[in-house]
Amino acid sequence: AGSLAALADGVRLRVGAAINTDLLGTDATYTALAGSEFSTVTPENSMKWEVVEPQQGTYDWSGGDKLVAFAQAHNQLVRGHNLVWHSQLPKWLTPDGVTTTFTNDQVKAILKKHVIDEATHFKGKIWQWDVVNEAFNDDGTPRQDIWYKAWGGLGYIADAFRWAHQADSKALLFYNDYNIEYTGPKSNAEYAFIKGLKQSGVPIDGVGFQTHLDTQYGFPDLKNNLQRFADLGLKVAETEVDVRTFTKPAPDVNVPASGLAQAAQEAYWMKTLQACLAVRPCISYTAWGISDKNSWVPGVFAGEGAALLWDEGYQPKPQFTDLQDLLALS
Ligand code: G3I
Repeated sequence: AGSLAALADGVRLRVGAAINTDLLGTDATYTALAGSEFSTVTPENSMKWEVVEPQQGTYDWSGGDKLVAFAQAHNQLVRGHNLVWHSQLPKWLTPDGVTTTFTNDQVKAILKKHVIDEATHFKGKIWQWDVVNEAFNDDGTPRQDIWYKAWGGLGYIADAFRWAHQADSKALLFYNDYNIEYTGPKSNAEYAFIKGLKQSGVPIDGVGFQTHLDTQYGFPDLKNNLQRFADLGLKVAETEVDVRTFTKPAPDVNVPASGLAQAAQEAYWMKTLQACLAVRPCISYTAWGISDKNSWVPGVFAGEGAALLWDEGYQPKPQFTDLQDLLALS
């Protein structure tokens, strides 16, 4: 039926995957799928701060550069991920991952240098940058991370977008988060905040909906939620789609029959793609990985997995065929 990339091209959509750059060139099946099925790629880890600046002032762009070269060789566009986050920060900046010994003024200067250095290094090679990732808690309050503390508020977000724009004026600049696929305290808080950014002229171009889903929870209004952010004059994207389910009995949970879980996963995948297809400014749809063999899910959610489109033996699952069919019909 054709690759996802080719089918999506027919409806002017880019379909992508998060890529583990260590596997590019070392795992032949993985590399072949990465190069043939997708029209956009995101580095799963290799553009994160802990990777690119392991010691203060010592940069390692090798993983990111490798992905950019791979993308260029396969006519793919790169989603840069990410410039500002509370997680996967270098040890020299926050030894315990929560606090820092630098003063507030030093933290501000360090973040500015990081955003400008990284956006400058990859200038002209990034289609969409996740400039700021996951700045809010699920209850809609701001995350009290080292950035929030140094600025005494969320002011670091506007600054980060301005610095990224100054360094690479052509990249589309995104705010990216999870658990905003449905209307609720978190998506409402971010909607109000991002509306404010737009109104004050901050150079934000889009909002990324990570879309890490679990068959035990619903996501009733993804399309409407994408649409309301798009109506602010922004592009939107589904940036990290995966659909996890219980694959083995875990204590204290209802284990769905495997047939039901499979049917639920297929329905979730199709609904997520349908939502993007139904909202014109939705410009890309990216899965957070290729095969269940390499997914982050089992390491974080005990007993859950099977979240991606190819199984552990790299066989395409029915949800892959479902997406092909949906794109072909769209
Ligand atoms: O590279 C080291 C390796 O040297 C070491 O031996 C090994 C031992 O634990 O760890 C390796 O680092 C791991 C890294 O992935 C690279 O594989 C980290 O432990 C592990 O925590 C890290 O997990 C990543 C996670 O972000 C960190 O928060 C996942 O691969 C990645 O899929 C995940 O991606 C995030 C997005 O960036 C943001 N949205 C949520 C999404 C899922 O959590």
